[in-house]
Amino acid sequence: MIIAIDGPAGAGKSTIAKKLGEKMDYMYLDTGAIYRTITLYLCNKNIDIENKRILADSLSNIDMKYTMDHIYLNGKIVDDDIRTESISQKTSRYSSKSEIRVFAVEMQRNISLGENIVLEGRDIGTVVFPKADYKFYLTANEEVRGKRRYKDMLDKGMDTSLEEIINSIKERDFNDKNREISPLTKAKDAIEIDTTSMTIEEVVEKMIGYVKGGVNAI
Ligand code: DC
Repeated sequence: MIIAIDGPAGAGKSTIAKKLGEKMDYMYLDTGAIYRTITLYLCNKNIDIENKRILADSLSNIDMKYTMDHIYLNGKIVDDDIRTESISQKTSRYSSKSEIRVFAVEMQRNISLGENIVLEGRDIGTVVFPKADYKFYLTANEEVRGKRRYKDMLDKGMDTSLEEIINSIKERDFNDKNREISPLTKAKDAIEIDTTSMTIEEVVEKMIGYVKGGVNAI
């Protein structure tokens, strides 16, 4: 069974997908972490992403591993390195490249093969798994999304301001929604949930209600 969750940055997708996965005993895949790790790798190697040949060569050499607990690049855990503001911004730009998307989508499909899995990202219900069993589209207003991200950053000891985070979220939303390939958009058959004034638990319970009740929008 495939459960697809899409939506903009800070809508609560990661926490909610992880909790939903735990409660249903499903695997959980944070596809943003894959795009972030690819971006970190390309930045560390100073790859010119406009050069298609060099980009394709570099991608074929990437040593990246995704597990439920950590993401590894060249054998090193990069969970925190991929969450900086600078990598967030760059990932939004880098993920517009078709070579990167093809590579990342193939990886996501391979990881999901034969699994009961919850995937969260921007294009799961539209491109990666258009035939997913359940599709959800999570939203929340910009300020609430900004505050959530801000709290995450503070918890990780990162130095930033709320204003900086809200501006960054707006910029990423714009890039993610307006790119040519696989832009962030709600699948026609996705169930939309506005999480602005809901707790994580409430959202997860609502989703489980849909799944257990066999109610989907398809
Ligand atoms: O979910 P996130 O904030 O970790 O994602 C980081 C960036 O990766 C996001 O701005 C756009 C890109 N992304 C994507 O293009 N497609 C996905 N399925 C997931 C993330």
